[in-house]
Amino acid sequence: MQILINEMKHWMIEAGERLKTALAQEVLEIDTKSSRTDLVTNLDKQTQEFLVERILAFDETANILAEENGKHALESLDGRVYVIDPIDGTMNFVLEGENFCIMVGIYDDGQPVLGFIYNVMKEEFLWGGPSIGVYLNQDRVKIPTIPSLSAGLIGMNCVMYAKNVYHMQEIGHRSMGVRMSGCAGVELAHMALGRRVAYISNLSPWDYAAGGAILAALGMKMSNLNGESLNFKDREYFLAAPAAIYDEILEIALNPEK
Ligand code: IPD
Ligand code: CA
Ligand code: CA
Repeated sequence: MQILINEMKHWMIEAGERLKTALAQEVLEIDTKSSRTDLVTNLDKQTQEFLVERILAFDETANILAEENGKHALESLDGRVYVIDPIDGTMNFVLEGENFCIMVGIYDDGQPVLGFIYNVMKEEFLWGGPSIGVYLNQDRVKIPTIPSLSAGLIGMNCVMYAKNVYHMQEIGHRSMGVRMSGCAGVELAHMALGRRVAYISNLSPWDYAAGGAILAALGMKMSNLNGESLNFKDREYFLAAPAAIYDEILEIALNPEK
């Protein structure tokens, strides 16, 4: 496992250097996918190819689930699956030049093994898994101690908040404040580091796979907003939080009058 960890970090840092260089020197080729605001660039595709090539050269049995280049579905989660989001926060990448991540989650038969979230411009590399714990760059991450929803900031999807899906406004109101970064990786890393009390969004598997392995290592929970396991197939409403706060949020989401 140590060789895999070292290699993955090395590949992702190299991919990040390529993104930094491209941001400084290249004119991006930007396309839309499902809507005007669903962007993809030549660098999303190139970064994914770079990582897929290296993973397959390292592990020829690897199954790949990834956002771009037609790799967005797998028949099953059997065996070792590498879930890749080559640029999480593409809108931020294009319009801010920061607040985006490269992410890889590794699962064996659907169980989390390792997660890697690299915030490229901040050079914050969060990695780990249930059998090894979690690290920020070289430093071990302690399990955050946030006592309740009312004590912390909550990361939330702006459309869900605006449309008050599952009583998001009440959930936000009971926290210390709502934050919307436009990048699932940034939010899930904030949670691991105790900067957020929870994260609620509408996500695809590559948005939550890496963070899910890291949060599992910290004893946190994630599911859809009915409390059911995420399916690693479709885009779904998503909740992640430490166990007690997870229960508190689900209670409001499903029974707001109580
Ligand atoms: C998106 C970001 C965003 C979340 C979207 C994702 P992408 O990922 O993580 O924060 O709200 O649902 O699709 O498309 O930039 O990789
Ligand atoms: Ca994403
Ligand atoms: Ca992406």
